[in-house]
Amino acid sequence: MKGKFIVFEGIDGSGKTTQINQLSKWLINSELIPKNNQLVITREPGGTKVGKLIRSLLLDTSQENSPDSITELLLYAADRAQHVNEIIRPSLNKGDWVISDRFCGSTLAYQGYGRKLDIQLIKDLETIATQGIYPDITFLLDIPVEESIKRRRNKKDDRIEQEGSEFLTNVSLGFKELSEENKWKKISAMNSKEKIISEIQSEIKKLQKIY
Ligand code: TMP
Repeated sequence: MKGKFIVFEGIDGSGKTTQINQLSKWLINSELIPKNNQLVITREPGGTKVGKLIRSLLLDTSQENSPDSITELLLYAADRAQHVNEIIRPSLNKGDWVISDRFCGSTLAYQGYGRKLDIQLIKDLETIATQGIYPDITFLLDIPVEESIKRRRNKKDDRIEQEGSEFLTNVSLGFKELSEENKWKKISAMNSKEKIISEIQSEIKKLQKIY
């Protein structure tokens, strides 16, 4: 792959959107991305048109019958397969840089550690959905569960966020374990915005040197 693939993971309220916006502003003005290439900002679930439909099935709280946990897992995998084939792989092939708000780590954390679905099954689906595409770097924005709940106090919860603090605690533990196992860059999202941004930027610069 000619491009670079950067992923942000973390529990809800960890500030991924803010950091992605900051990083993209900086990247666009940096000379890291080759002149003829672009920066593509995307997300899971919902990075494609098909994905947006899947996202509403997954997160809508108004539906009478919510998907059961295996259906939920398959819908996240379906969203990812479409996302990889329509956006991520073609962009990386062209040499574009891609930043995704969530990727496979979220399924392991939420459906694996949160819902307690079989980790091997999740990994098998990941192989099918990604077909060998994996991030060059994954950032975990780490915040305590209480802080996540506090930051989201005035926002309406989606269907997954409604699961409550025990579920979120398991997800958070999952993210920490995954971050160690997979050598993600864990960044404390409790630090000042400036410190977080500078840590992310220095990791991105190293990434460029490696390749
Ligand atoms: P977002 O609010 O960060 O866009 O994510 C939507 C919700 O979907 C969030 O609560 C995390 C959840 N999620 C999973 O449960 N599994 C996954 O594989 C992904 C990508 C997201």
